[in-house]
Amino acid sequence: QKGGFEHFMLKEIHEEPRAVRDTMAAYIKDDIQDLVKNLPDLSKYNEIHIVSCGSAMYAGMIAKSLIETKARVKVDVEIASEYRYKDPILSKDTLVLLVSQSGETADTLAALLLAKEQGIDTFAIVNVVGSSIAREAKYVAYTLAGPEIAVATTKAYCTQVALLSLIALNLAYIHNRITQKEIDQIIEEIHCLPDILNELLKDEQYITAGKIISRHSNVFFLGRGLDYALSMEGSLKLKEISYIHSEAYAAGELKHGTISLIEKGTPVIAICTDERLFEKTISNIKEVKARGANVILFVREGLNVSEDYYDYKIEIPKVDMMLQGIVTVVPLQLLSYQVANLRGCEIDQPRNLAKSVTVE
Ligand code: M6R
Repeated sequence: QKGGFEHFMLKEIHEEPRAVRDTMAAYIKDDIQDLVKNLPDLSKYNEIHIVSCGSAMYAGMIAKSLIETKARVKVDVEIASEYRYKDPILSKDTLVLLVSQSGETADTLAALLLAKEQGIDTFAIVNVVGSSIAREAKYVAYTLAGPEIAVATTKAYCTQVALLSLIALNLAYIHNRITQKEIDQIIEEIHCLPDILNELLKDEQYITAGKIISRHSNVFFLGRGLDYALSMEGSLKLKEISYIHSEAYAAGELKHGTISLIEKGTPVIAICTDERLFEKTISNIKEVKARGANVILFVREGLNVSEDYYDYKIEIPKVDMMLQGIVTVVPLQLLSYQVANLRGCEIDQPRNLAKSVTVE
């Protein structure tokens, strides 16, 4: 059942190239006339509320970053358990977009029903066919990750990011914010994604970093923009399965309090893939390095950083920013897996957790 892998989580990470390929293929049109197929028309909404929990919410944060920067459509990302009780401000131009692997998460379902009762359009991105959220939503698009057994989501998260990235691309297209040439290049890269992911799965750069982290009990992640969203996911994955305390920060926010926790040897995982924000993130890395942090740098290839500012470097392949999240998350997942494995944790079924959270 585990296909020769020691854990379902590792097996599922190795299924990501296939899962991303299938999900993309289900929604990209073959003829270039229209970009996507099997997706609702999103042109009429001037605001999107992405409502979800845990990793699904962090996938939503990536979508917010891409949709707002590339399509200039306003997106709010909301924690479902907060959204359902805050009497959200909704209008006919708002789309409520639910993201859920299981399609059964109680708070996400409740948020959907709340919007539906008010006559607001709902769109669900779900992995489990026929699940409650899929049944209740006005529009549904399935991620094609296949069954996910490990409690920590990996391939389902990856396909959520893939589908949301495609939606962001389509919104940029609908709103005339992207040229045909740029679209063609991105589509070409989408076709290369499975190969890029397969190569990443063979890449063992993360192994030394994993050994370092496994000996610590506090870890920080930092990044800006898209890399901040990825930091949140990397941090959740690490704490969920390895039981190491970990916090993710928007890199510029660290100096507003948290930097007091950095001492000699504290591991700081810095994610740096966005060229526009590169210099800014590097200056934050310098700040933690100056306080003795052990900096593990996840950096996109082609972005040069002096060796003075990091202790260990993991290079991430360069793809278009629209697709960068899909690629960068893979070594983060492998890193968490390795740390948890070194610490002898029960990786597929971490303590206190359930695969789908059907209570509020
Ligand atoms: O089934 P859902 O996508 O709605 O689940 C949401 C979260 O419970 C889930 O992503 C959780 O955070 C994962 N265990 C993280 O790996």
